Amino acid sequence: MARRRLIVEIPALGAIDGTRGGIGRQLADALRNAIANGELKAGERLPSTRALAVSLGFSRGTVAEAYEQLIAEGCLAARAGASTRVASGPHEPHVAGLKLSGKAPGRVPALPASVSRYAAMAEGLAPLPMVPFSVAVPEGDVAMDDHWRRLGNRVRASQAAVPSGYADPQGLLALRVAIADYLRRARAVRASPENIVITEGTQQGLYLAAKVLLAPGSVALAEDPAYPGLISVLEDGGILVHRIPVDSQGLDVAAATDDFPDAGVAFVTPSHQYPMGMPLSMPRRLALVEWARRHGGWIVEDDYDSELRYAGQPFPALQGLAGDRVVYLGTFSKVMAPSLRLGYIVAPECLAKAFAGARALIGRGSPSAEQHVIAAYMREGYFEAHIRRIRGIYAERRQVLIDALRTELPRLRIEPADQGMHVVVRLPDGVDDVAVASAARNAGIALRALSPMCSGDLRLSGLMLGFGGFTAGQLKEAVQRLRRVLSALAPG
Ligand SMILES: Cc1ncc(COP(=O)(O)O)c(C=O)c1O
Repeated sequence: MARRRLIVEIPALGAIDGTRGGIGRQLADALRNAIANGELKAGERLPSTRALAVSLGFSRGTVAEAYEQLIAEGCLAARAGASTRVASGPHEPHVAGLKLSGKAPGRVPALPASVSRYAAMAEGLAPLPMVPFSVAVPEGDVAMDDHWRRLGNRVRASQAAVPSGYADPQGLLALRVAIADYLRRARAVRASPENIVITEGTQQGLYLAAKVLLAPGSVALAEDPAYPGLISVLEDGGILVHRIPVDSQGLDVAAATDDFPDAGVAFVTPSHQYPMGMPLSMPRRLALVEWARRHGGWIVEDDYDSELRYAGQPFPALQGLAGDRVVYLGTFSKVMAPSLRLGYIVAPECLAKAFAGARALIGRGSPSAEQHVIAAYMREGYFEAHIRRIRGIYAERRQVLIDALRTELPRLRIEPADQGMHVVVRLPDGVDDVAVASAARNAGIALRALSPMCSGDLRLSGLMLGFGGFTAGQLKEAVQRLRRVLSALAPG
């Protein structure tokens, strides 16, 4: 007996274009849409694969493949010996409470408070454009040298650079060995490869230090002014931050430790206070270590650019005085390039494993190939040669900037400092540094204002001027522009 030919009435199937490839995928899409639209209802029987194939003029295998895909997705249900049916589930319009194909937007979820907080951070932590006086833009003469490029090409192409499994989240051992060796010689840091954790830079080191050392609601000490990326990390962790003023000797340790004996961690920039520039004096270093020992506290040392000292040897790191109390954070951002996203933590022995675990939690570790390149660059002696070379270039650029400021803007006080990649100038009383930075942006120069780095109690008005990535000509020209901006905003 001749079988009756089934005419299948599913309008969504009209969207299938037989002249295009991927018929099976198109059929699955069309059926999925029909289910979402309510054209096909939960429990409704579908035609057999043979009937649908005949009706549409496709092969039976193509239809079976589409059914199998939808069964796997949970849109269709099949039982042995029975027809395939539409599965019941959240795609049913009455269950979901939404008509998926309609234009109705549905209920907009209430945004958690963290959304606006993180959005504000995206703005606050955004890098400045690559024009003077942006900090940390190693280009031209100060960019990484040919050795870096050659080693990079060779090492990245090797099998070892991209191992087939996950690499050690603590970081490449060869790099940790090279860093321990370098830090011992150059920074008087007591480090062993086992105590080093490779990070994506000091920003991540600060984040990890807050995670490992501080519970929400605990108390930390930070300098005033301070690096805004640190304050954001602490506030984000629900940590109570006491800001301690700095003077010509750095953080006022006595004020900190007398007033806040309950603090668990002090975050400091002892070699080169950020942003003001003074080092932490030896008596203050000893007092800070004494506080840590007496109160069972930790010190987090952010040593972001200490290699770049111009008037003598870099100051030894605080870590060398108390390796059991100090979590030391170093970075390749300043002497190499911030885009490398590589830095390191030297943790006291009892904390090293915890830091490695926290590092694994937030990303499994840093890219392996770049770690291999830096390790080779350090091992073969190029890294320290590079630092010696850029130190000379930066010293000249810094002097050009200071001379230009003295000539063009003698009213501005230059903060005394002899290292790093930026100079801080103080603005005359009553001049709004944020307004100056914003007007400067319109004039094609990039500046960071000092006041947003201060607590509410301390409102210093000043500007941070980076010089590292710019030639003498660019710096002089930019100082002239700054003079014009300032005379428009603060004549006299
Ligand atoms: C004081 C200070 N700490 C930490 C950082 C973050 O550096 P990194 O690029 O290593 O994350 C910066 C960057 O400017 C900084 O100035």
